[in-house]
Amino acid sequence: MDRGQLLKIAEEFGSPIYIYDAEKIESQYKRLTSAFKSVKKLKINYAVKALSNISILKFFNTLGSGIDTVSMQEVQLGLAAGFKPQQIIFTPNGVSLHEIEEASKLGVQINIDNLSILEQFGTKHPKTPVCIRINPHVMAGGNSNISVGHIDSKFGISIHQIPHLLRIIDNTKMNINGIHMHTGSDILDIDVFLYASEILFETAKQFKNLEFIDFGSGFKVPYKAGDIETNIEELGQKLSDKFNDFCKEYGKDLTLAFEPGKFLVSESGFFLAQVNSVKQTTSTVFAQVDSGFNHLIRPMFYGSHHDIINISNPEGRERFYTVVGYICETDTFGNNRRINEINDGDILCFKNAGAYCFSMASNYNSRFKPAEVLWYNNKAHLIRKRETFDDILNNQIAIDFAPKKEKQLVK
Ligand SMILES: Cc1ncc(COP(=O)(O)O)c(C=O)c1O
Repeated sequence: MDRGQLLKIAEEFGSPIYIYDAEKIESQYKRLTSAFKSVKKLKINYAVKALSNISILKFFNTLGSGIDTVSMQEVQLGLAAGFKPQQIIFTPNGVSLHEIEEASKLGVQINIDNLSILEQFGTKHPKTPVCIRINPHVMAGGNSNISVGHIDSKFGISIHQIPHLLRIIDNTKMNINGIHMHTGSDILDIDVFLYASEILFETAKQFKNLEFIDFGSGFKVPYKAGDIETNIEELGQKLSDKFNDFCKEYGKDLTLAFEPGKFLVSESGFFLAQVNSVKQTTSTVFAQVDSGFNHLIRPMFYGSHHDIINISNPEGRERFYTVVGYICETDTFGNNRRINEINDGDILCFKNAGAYCFSMASNYNSRFKPAEVLWYNNKAHLIRKRETFDDILNNQIAIDFAPKKEKQLVK
């Protein structure tokens, strides 16, 4: 999308606002599927948590994608978006047996990452096919909060617990139809996937009725010019070869599954915010925008980088700014950034705003969540209205307190 289109959307729908480019989502989806074209059965399950607007989900449905969900609400959103239960995998962590049973009743593929829950579920529902999330103990990911496959991680069933796992399966006679891993996000080195895949193949041999192997996700996307990204094409070629060899050895064409979020939507998204004021202090120049970590928390939460450009003044002289929000805690979007000269009222554009941005937004400071727009077929489609004060009050219950009696003052 170009600067003019973005500015026009901000003019029409106001700021702050999230904008997603459907064409970019589609090209990333196609890039991934063509990288694995030599695999007979490939399944991409878009990770709903990255960006869960119903129109985005409907768009993925038109591409032929399935979805990866982590809560009952995401499952319900997927169904509301028109996905069939068979196109949905439910990969929760730390949820109750009850929630897993609820999802299972809807007919979605269950993925379990906990031996105790597995034993309880298998005892009650031995006929329901279940996928197992393995923790291969591979340290991977851009940041400790998003590295989830290591030894200290709460995710998955450890490869060292396989004997116990097999005993549960044997005792309950449950049907394991898939195995899964997800080692973290922002994984640069494709050898991590290749190494972890060897562990997964070894594990897979222990199960006779598999239909699929799910390699999770974690592909790294570029955040700034010259940034390195996961080489999907090379990974596609190398992992497909290994997978095809494994299928021969296993004696069956299994489905190779992935569940990417960031790779599919990160670069499609732009977050626009307006500059309330440029404030010069003794040490720096702050550009203060009409937003904060209530709308975009990733930089403050785990130090993620979002390029920030001044789309109102692209030819302006470059100067250094620290871009901050209006929240009552420090909420720095970008420190000491070189940006074209900023004036009050300018629109700043934050890039890579498709994944884990709106979906992590909150009403902190009782602010409204922003509107969302999908740019599709050269047209801006409003896919979420900006909230209003009614949304802030919605679900709050105001108690009518009787006025306190005033104490008599003793004269
Ligand atoms: C189980 C699981 N699958 C898939 C994803 C998507 O990861 P990414 O957005 O890095 O592609 C995540 C992210 O947290 C996850 O936890």
